[in-house]
Amino acid sequence: MKQTKIISTGSYLPEKVLTNFDLEKIVDTTDEWITTRTGIKERHLAAENEATSDLVIKAAKIALERANLEAKDLDGIIVATITPDNTYPSTACWVEKGLGIKGIPVFDVSAACTGFVYALAIADSLIKTGTMKRILVAGAETLTKFTNWEDRSTCVLFGDGAGVVILEESDDESGILSTFWGADGNLGELLIQPAGGSKMPPTEETVKNKLHTVHMEGNKVFRWAVRYMQEAAEKALEKAGLTGEDIDLFIPHQANLRIIEQTVKYAKIDPKKTYIVIDKIANISAGTIPIALDMAVNEGKIKKGDILLFAAFGGGFTWGAATLRW
Ligand code: ACO
Repeated sequence: MKQTKIISTGSYLPEKVLTNFDLEKIVDTTDEWITTRTGIKERHLAAENEATSDLVIKAAKIALERANLEAKDLDGIIVATITPDNTYPSTACWVEKGLGIKGIPVFDVSAACTGFVYALAIADSLIKTGTMKRILVAGAETLTKFTNWEDRSTCVLFGDGAGVVILEESDDESGILSTFWGADGNLGELLIQPAGGSKMPPTEETVKNKLHTVHMEGNKVFRWAVRYMQEAAEKALEKAGLTGEDIDLFIPHQANLRIIEQTVKYAKIDPKKTYIVIDKIANISAGTIPIALDMAVNEGKIKKGDILLFAAFGGGFTWGAATLRW
């Protein structure tokens, strides 16, 4: 069986930074509350004229250049996002246009914060079966455009940004060792953007009532997040014949430091081997893992042969994890 490996990474964070202290001036909150409850210190905000595809295009150009490739060398593009440019066409279509290419299959994946892991699992299968040779996978969001800036329980949590990886068939030992993914649609109402789709198309009322923004029952989501992040990590490790002790770097989805701490504890991963960036970027949903991966690569935290674990949980609910040898 062919194995899939990541040959390049790239990321882009919008210029504007909003700190917890800035938020203190917008809603009834404090830096102390946000830091102790979540671990977040600041987040990046996309500009008015910056759509999700714009962030992906910038990150993709970096990844392509690093791999010494041109966009025409790609066989496919998958964008994981819950904040697409439009309902249709897909954000991936805009990325294809922005990269100056046409003709290849491109599509979006919607699995909230687990989106990147889902997209990785799909790309892995496409490469393993020989359907495609080289795929660009992105995780990207502009969540701050769908935020209710009067709701302190959600507006402090999210940030914008894009991370991409380029995947191709491996010619050595490195590559994806296992993937695990799951979902439970019965719990969808706990974390939802209620309006804007066919269930509740946009009206004056939906806009007035801020139903186009994130609605979350944080406490309930927290409990499920701990359970399923841990289960996903354990299942991906088990499928690869690994334990938490084999992990050189754990890159989790980063919605809340306390969720990560629980996962690390139960999966028996060394906390020092967990890569945390939530303080700098907040929760970028599908963007978090690929952005954190790119940051870790840039900081020289990953060396050839290292065993990596990704794990995520998000709206849907969805969850997933992947192990790979770098
Ligand atoms: N500043 C100050 N006080 C606040 C704030 C704030 N920003 N937000 C809420 N509070 C208050 C609440 O009003 C409440 O006050 P009360 O006790 O007087 O009623 C108190 O703080 C506690 O609120 P909780 O919601 O219970 O706080 P909690 O400790 O649960 O933290 C949080 C909230 C951070 C959202 C947490 O529940 C969490 O991380 N949940 C999981 C998020 C997650 O994993 N999401 C999945 C991925 S996201 C995606 O898929 C798009």
